[in-house]
Amino acid sequence: MAVRPIRLFGDPVLRRPAAPVVDFDKELRTLVADLTETMLEAPGAGLAAPQLGVGLRVFTWNVDGEVGHLVNPELTLSEEQQDGEEGCLSIPGLVYDCRRALHVVAHGFDMHGEPLLVEGSELLARAVQHETDHLDGVLFVDRLDTAARKAAMKEIRESEWFGLERPTVKVSPHATRGLGI
Ligand code: NI
Repeated sequence: MAVRPIRLFGDPVLRRPAAPVVDFDKELRTLVADLTETMLEAPGAGLAAPQLGVGLRVFTWNVDGEVGHLVNPELTLSEEQQDGEEGCLSIPGLVYDCRRALHVVAHGFDMHGEPLLVEGSELLARAVQHETDHLDGVLFVDRLDTAARKAAMKEIRESEWFGLERPTVKVSPHATRGLGI
């Protein structure tokens, strides 16, 4: 088990749809353990594999003192909606109101390949929807209305973490001898 670095907004892995898990092997169990440990250390209410740079349909959740995981989730959403604050460990510091289904039934598998059902309302339902979105390359800012999304994007661009993980060109220490370059 290990705490691993969380990929941040701007990393292309967060925009790639993740592949279904086929092998329920030791590697998958290590991934679930790493997701759990990284989520709890953050701390966060959920974490999806692409946030650790792994393109597999796996997420963990942590709501009201209960911790779980789900592999290859298929969601059924209630028509009834909820409004409430949402954030994302890949977009540090941002919190916006985001509309979600109030209740969710999520079918999938545990890390051993046994069928698993996660069912919940409010924060658990929100977390399950948010993490399943990550598996489709969708981020919660995509779900905001136009005005809120604009404000969120501005806040992201102005965040001190934004763009840090990208390659940077070092400024040459050499004099340019008066040439404009
Ligand atoms: Ni997130």
